[in-house]
Amino acid sequence: MLLRSVWVLWLSCVLIIVYVCNCGSVCEVDLRHRTVSRRVEEVLTVLRDLTTEVSKKDGRFQSIAHAGVNNENIKDQPAMVSKWAALLRGRCSFNPAIQVLTSSLVLVSVPVRGLIGYHQHVARQWRYYSLTGSILPTPVREPEKLHQWLELESFTSPAQDWQDAKVCVEGDIVPAKVVSLFREQLETAILTCSFSGKVSILESVGSVVRVAIETVEGVMEAELVPTVELINYWPKKARWPRLLQRWPTTERARCIKSFGFNLMATSNYHWLLSFSRAEQALLVAVDEDGGCRRKCYRVVRQLKEDTWCPGTKPVITAFHLQTLLFWCCEKFPCGRDWRCVKECVLRVARKLLKCVSQRYLRHYFVRSYNLLKYSNTTELDHTAQKINDFIANPSLYVH
Ligand SMILES: *[C@@H]1O[C@H](CO)[C@@H](O)[C@H](O)[C@H]1NC(C)=O
Repeated sequence: MLLRSVWVLWLSCVLIIVYVCNCGSVCEVDLRHRTVSRRVEEVLTVLRDLTTEVSKKDGRFQSIAHAGVNNENIKDQPAMVSKWAALLRGRCSFNPAIQVLTSSLVLVSVPVRGLIGYHQHVARQWRYYSLTGSILPTPVREPEKLHQWLELESFTSPAQDWQDAKVCVEGDIVPAKVVSLFREQLETAILTCSFSGKVSILESVGSVVRVAIETVEGVMEAELVPTVELINYWPKKARWPRLLQRWPTTERARCIKSFGFNLMATSNYHWLLSFSRAEQALLVAVDEDGGCRRKCYRVVRQLKEDTWCPGTKPVITAFHLQTLLFWCCEKFPCGRDWRCVKECVLRVARKLLKCVSQRYLRHYFVRSYNLLKYSNTTELDHTAQKINDFIANPSLYVH
């Protein structure tokens, strides 16, 4: 009986895969991957030039070539660099500064220079200043779970140019000020590098620098965010790994935590915690046991982009899917749970449907934070309906 069902399962997997490879989704998935890779490569080249130019003019910023473990702030820690290199060995991966959110939108962290020796200390409670430095009668809103203040005092030796009213108010390094400084430098750099015909700064609300870049494969948008990379430091807010968790291994988790986290200047007063190095480290080694997690992730991403929520500003991004994949990996830690692509795609789709319908998706490292908290509920419901249709009849889509 068992043997028979295993056989049927095996047969259905083989059929699906053969079918898929003949005419459908997997080939499209690979094609999408190649097109996006080419676009991202081109965007990277342009942004490398621009940020190098910015860095020449204002030493507080570094080129994106120095993102992650190449950060100039950790030049003196070769062990960290070789640990990272060992993890990525033989695996193609993008510059750590780039996160591909959709096929036409990337998030780019621009590393800052000169903030060294971070330690978390008890932040003072209330702030009564505005962005221009004037005194407010009521305190500024406290940061939410995925955000924090950043005080100069948190660094043992902040470089002189960070102790400057251009970026600081009352001892806080203020993200909106850092962003506006960066925007000014970027505008100049676009002219200096003669990129005026290729790169344009888009209108944006709040403290986000959004640019459009013409590539051979079409226009790509990039959000550029000044980022403080805190390597070798893990924040208390991220209680991870959870107790008794079987994925990833204890040793791998320890290694991942040593790569630290980032603080990104995405809002006016508060810095956003980001774990892109940890996520990348998880993702590159996700199929070490021979599973099909990565392929499954790609198929789901393609379904999302083509069918569930297409468009340039989708309510569900690749980041959500990646988070979901990590949760599924925890729930199904064994390689044998990840043999059949079709089964696994359905499993992830069901899990996504549950999250989208309940409007609740936990951040992978800061569990108490709901990534769908501010998402448009109409769009979430619409997406849930599409996923539901898919689950009811997957063969209509995966063919
Ligand atoms: C949510 O999305 C719908 C459909 O795209 C749109 O009509 C509506 O204005 C959005 N609501 C909010 C609050 O942004």
